[in-house]
Amino acid sequence: MERPQPDSMPQDLSEALKEATKEVHTQAENVEFMKNFQKGQVTRDGFKLVMASLYHIYVALEEEIERNKENPVYTPLYFPEELHRRAALEQDMAFWYGPHWQETIPYTAATRSYTRRLHTVGRTEPELLVAHAYTRYLGDLSGGQVLKKIAQKALDLPSSGEGLSFFTFPNIASATKFKQLYRARMNTLEMTPEVRRRVIEEAKTAFLLNIQLFEELQSLLTQDTEGWDQSPPAAAPGLRR
Ligand code: HEM
Repeated sequence: MERPQPDSMPQDLSEALKEATKEVHTQAENVEFMKNFQKGQVTRDGFKLVMASLYHIYVALEEEIERNKENPVYTPLYFPEELHRRAALEQDMAFWYGPHWQETIPYTAATRSYTRRLHTVGRTEPELLVAHAYTRYLGDLSGGQVLKKIAQKALDLPSSGEGLSFFTFPNIASATKFKQLYRARMNTLEMTPEVRRRVIEEAKTAFLLNIQLFEELQSLLTQDTEGWDQSPPAAAPGLRR
């Protein structure tokens, strides 16, 4: 006879992930960078910085997804046409950083930690890749839409959507319906209880990597510039430009 699942451990992976990341999600919403963003307090410098980080993160994530697209631990979640963000972020990089963006965009330490983890997972623990894809893509399809509108207004951007391609999913007609499909696909993944436990842990790690990134970006943006001479360095320390 099947035992009833305790409330704290829903049967469906999609439910378990949502439940397990509730607390870190609230934490993520409440980091200073995100709180300011939600109030419309975002500068062009801040926005450029976070977008460059997202570019590196999606390059790494999607490289590992491509590596594992035929691995049954990931295949049901392989939706390149609908989800993949690399091409959109390349357009955004060109808009924000100009034609030589490849050589000039920053790659911060916290961004590197995040991409390093993505590569380790993709190469050595691909069964955990679902946790990273869930954290980013379902997040982008949820709160991302709110953030897009805020950025558009705060940064006085063209209504054409230029500079914000990342936030637009032209091959997804209904975000709500797509999220339902995605959750259903996550729930078809076969996994042992041990792997399931590690996937859930990894999703919390993924949120923490995002939180650490926002904290780093905030400190780079508010670095004490007192004592700098009349011509401060073009980049704050820690930024490669
Ligand atoms: C879901 C808002 C930051 C990941 C959502 C939802 C909203 C939201 C409104 C939809 C909830 C629902 O459909 O029940 C926000 C806001 C944020 C923020 C306002 C910051 C200002 C983040 C961050 C991440 C993230 C930093 C991780 C990188 C997710 C995920 C979901 C989600 C994975 C889907 C949860 C699920 O249905 O399983 N968010 N979010 N969010 N968010 Fe966020």
